[in-house]
Amino acid sequence: MIDLILEEKLDELDPLRHLRNDDDAQLADVVPAQPPSIHNQLVELSFSSDESALLPNPVVIKLVVDASPGCGGIAWPAGEVLAAYIARRGSWKGKNVLELGSGTGLVGLVAGKLGARACITDQAPLIEIMARNVSMNDLTAFVTVAELNWGEPIPQDIPRPDVLLAADCVYFEPAFPLLVKTLADLVIDDTTEVLFCYKKRRKADKRFFTLLKKEFTWTEVDDNPARDAYSREAISLLRLSRKHSRLSCRTVTSRCR
Ligand SMILES: C[S@@+](CC[C@H](N)C(=O)[O-])C[C@H]1O[C@@H](n2cnc3c(N)ncnc32)[C@H](O)[C@@H]1O
Repeated sequence: MIDLILEEKLDELDPLRHLRNDDDAQLADVVPAQPPSIHNQLVELSFSSDESALLPNPVVIKLVVDASPGCGGIAWPAGEVLAAYIARRGSWKGKNVLELGSGTGLVGLVAGKLGARACITDQAPLIEIMARNVSMNDLTAFVTVAELNWGEPIPQDIPRPDVLLAADCVYFEPAFPLLVKTLADLVIDDTTEVLFCYKKRRKADKRFFTLLKKEFTWTEVDDNPARDAYSREAISLLRLSRKHSRLSCRTVTSRCR
């Protein structure tokens, strides 16, 4: 309890400290090292795909990373784990994919490379870097970029997703109820698959799951051979299911570009 109180005090002083001070260095196999002062750098990430299908293998993504528009401007560990899983599943042709808190757009870009129609979303400061990454990977025909602020009404022109993705989005406590609201607004029944990749960093994260439990149940994705490796780094890949089906209520606020 004392630990939790101390952590909360430190969080008040520096809300993003737990994103920086863990032992991500051990993740070197999964995640390239990323110094904190990244400005307008280009990285290339590659993910193994389904060897049996006529798909790009590996899936190679060029990514502009830049920490100046916010923490989402670089690629985070759970994002890389989710991107690797998306690539391993093979073709995404014909699927409507929506990603929340996309940051650089990495996960949605991998889905786009494999044939999905993906809409990658984040807050306004990240729009430019996402758009640059879409163009740089020649994915403008497959991947659109939109502003989507958690907790706000879902823009009407954001298509209802077959698959909803979110990676490394549990890190800032005031945003916990907003993210749960957006997940619940977007998923009205089990026709939408929700893949939620999460890195546990602190005890307060459990408050997110207390809120999430009101709207969703979840199970660990178990068809991922990399599971042991990322579990050791406190990363979980979850599939969420809606507890209560309901009708959606949407309000137009912005356009998907
Ligand atoms: C730690 S980063 C993860 C980025 C990316 N998914 C990845 O794994 O590399 C969290 C992302 O959530 C976004 N985010 C935080 N609060 C948000 C909000 N209220 N509405 C929309 N996006 C938000 C941030 O801008 C950031 O891009």
